[in-house]
Amino acid sequence: MLGGSRIKPDAGLFVGSGKAEEAAAAVAAGEAEVAIFNHELSPSQERNLEKLLQCRVLSRAGLILDIFARRARTHEGKLQVELAQLHHLSTRLVRGWSHLERQGGGIGLRGPGETQLELDRRLVRGRIDKVKRDLEDVKRHRALSRRARKRNETPLVSIVGYTNAGKSTLFNAMTGAGTYAADQLFATLDTTIRKLQLPADQEILLADTVGFIRDLPHDLVAAFRATLEEAREADLLLHVLDAADPERTTRIEQVNAVLQEIEADEVPTLLVFNKIDLSEHETARVERDESGRPKRVFLSAKTGEGLDALREVLSELIFPDLFEGEMAVTPAQGKLRALLYASHAVQSERIDEAGIAHLQLRLPRPRYERICREAGVPLNGAAAARPLESWERGHTRAGRASKGIRN
Ligand code: GTP
Repeated sequence: MLGGSRIKPDAGLFVGSGKAEEAAAAVAAGEAEVAIFNHELSPSQERNLEKLLQCRVLSRAGLILDIFARRARTHEGKLQVELAQLHHLSTRLVRGWSHLERQGGGIGLRGPGETQLELDRRLVRGRIDKVKRDLEDVKRHRALSRRARKRNETPLVSIVGYTNAGKSTLFNAMTGAGTYAADQLFATLDTTIRKLQLPADQEILLADTVGFIRDLPHDLVAAFRATLEEAREADLLLHVLDAADPERTTRIEQVNAVLQEIEADEVPTLLVFNKIDLSEHETARVERDESGRPKRVFLSAKTGEGLDALREVLSELIFPDLFEGEMAVTPAQGKLRALLYASHAVQSERIDEAGIAHLQLRLPRPRYERICREAGVPLNGAAAARPLESWERGHTRAGRASKGIRN
């Protein structure tokens, strides 16, 4: 990546000529195929640099467009990115742009008296018009297809957040290489969406999205939003942030503002404070709001601390058929007690005079039932589970959460 301070700036090259020569030598030595500049380059600077470096030169906008093109998943996202790419390209179609070997011959395509440049411009203009028309169509049908997608599909959880917050690290840690290999369909189609098995044998799709960046070039805003647009279709958003970032509060607001603009602010959101390993004071934990709904999870995608708790929380938010109640566990049932703790199901514990542990539980109902089956305890037996009268209340709450997630 080239950029940084320059001593003798050269308007035609963006960097000083000494720096450019240095870069050319580095490109030649490393047989680099692309040189990336972390700045905006004018079309002529890009051309001059390509001539000098003898390799493809990408400006910041070009690089971002490449990333968007890889990450756009929806039809609309792909079209928006293509439109931005075409606009970007059209500013670069000037006489003499063929200093690098041009791909594909234009012979036979050219109309009478038309130069290569005119032909290129005509093709790009034609394509821009076509993409614009397609976009209009997609927008018209959007509401319709959204309704169709909602029917009977595996719930979709999208990871959003600023670049460098650790979204991809979390995505990989959650899905793991094993899942990836087993999930050939998604592995081949897209490396940023995978199936994930939750603790109570529930299945969801986890999707990584393109990261937010500072100073997004103005003409790329539409493409960025469109790339992120699928977040609107999600059943839940995991908004990941770097817990050690001093600017995290501002970043949360910036992400929320964009989510609102793309109409994804109605989707339930869970804040994930990542990188707690970088701070001595942070511990892995789940914070809930007054109604008991999980709002914030503190974890480290790198060390894996808190990932189990996140899985449990996902399960609770997406499949909110919760069991809430008390279970009496005898000292002889140590394994059962350990299993309940490992499932993050225990809210509180009280040991009575007889040494019996009274555990206040909260966990997805299917998991509760499986644990009971495996431990050989009856679902409502006195020696094991004794649902509280308050269960009815919890159940009603869960029902409401479910509605929020589905609509
Ligand atoms: P973009 O793809 O640019 O949007 O970034 P991202 O949000 O996907 O971040 P990524 O997963 O690439 O991580 C960014 C950097 O943070 C990498 O160097 C990771 O190794 C590091 N990182 C991610 N999670 C953690 C964590 O829990 N602790 C620490 N210490 N570093 C982490």
